[in-house]
Amino acid sequence: MSSPTPSDVTSSAPFHRLGLVGTGAMGRGIAQLAAQAGLEVMLHDARTGAVDEARDFIAGIWSRGVAKGRLSEDDQASYQSRLHEATELEDLAGCDIVVEAIVEDLDVKQDLFRRLEAVIADDAVLATNTSSLSVTAIASACRLPQRVIGFHFFNPVPLMKIVEVIPGLRTSREVVDHVDALGQAMGHFTARATDTPGFLVNHAGRAFGTEALRILGERVTDHATIDRILVDQGGFRMGPFSLLDLTGLDVSHAVMESIYHQYYEEARFRPSPLTRSRLDAGLLGRKSGEGFYCYQEGQAVVAK
Ligand code: NAI
Repeated sequence: MSSPTPSDVTSSAPFHRLGLVGTGAMGRGIAQLAAQAGLEVMLHDARTGAVDEARDFIAGIWSRGVAKGRLSEDDQASYQSRLHEATELEDLAGCDIVVEAIVEDLDVKQDLFRRLEAVIADDAVLATNTSSLSVTAIASACRLPQRVIGFHFFNPVPLMKIVEVIPGLRTSREVVDHVDALGQAMGHFTARATDTPGFLVNHAGRAFGTEALRILGERVTDHATIDRILVDQGGFRMGPFSLLDLTGLDVSHAVMESIYHQYYEEARFRPSPLTRSRLDAGLLGRKSGEGFYCYQEGQAVVAK
């Protein structure tokens, strides 16, 4: 059976109302797909104005879809009507699942889930989009750890049609099945992975990213050449430095450090000082206008 397209999915039972905390690069993509899959979506962000920016961003995607004849105006209007702002965390009370896509920091995510547990029903699910933190460790802060699960999308969410479904050690079987079904209803291939550092994709991707950083650190060649070779000759859709810039060096560096420490400082996972120094300089990639490349209107313009 072919996988459902956003427009032919009307509900993804048992979930009807999805809370989304953190409406940055990942959160807005998850919200877009959830609305397309028929869920009511409640958007919350700690930064004032962030939800409006996310809604405008998503509306722009749907408008371009209509302009290109890929989306009907009726579908656009119904998708749009499903995005709501949750000004306070308490506004998420009626959600049957809340997905977080906030900063990659264990303490901050644990604190959020603790606060959410005081708001949502006992049978509501808490899902984390963490790239690298232990789902079990995030769940350990919760009163009901069996409701906590990893639901790890990739950037950009609507185009990268895979999501990792990662049970923590105490996650209930039912929660895993329901979240897996939601991922499929959102039009993605669901890859179940165990709760190990980096899960499946970011574990496999270490070799690609860290070795490229070592090659650059050893001055074998420049980053643009490494990218070009891996795309032209290696068959990758994007080179490692373009990917670091897309992900954001703040997120990438935190992920590299987290995986390294969780593997007890195993040498093959050691992060590179090259990302640390860019991070310190505020060169975060596309989101700050400069990382390994410089960007104007979202396009890399200068290979430095
Ligand atoms: P981002 O920086 O684009 O967005 C994070 C958003 O969360 C911001 O709008 C910020 O205001 C908000 N926020 C931060 N702390 C908050 C809190 N305590 N309560 C409410 N809102 C809060 O980050 P991005 O890239 O979307 O990453 C989010 C999560 O997704 C991280 O855990 C990251 O590891 C993970 N992830 C990121 C990927 C990427 O390529 N950027 C890929 C897959 C996962």
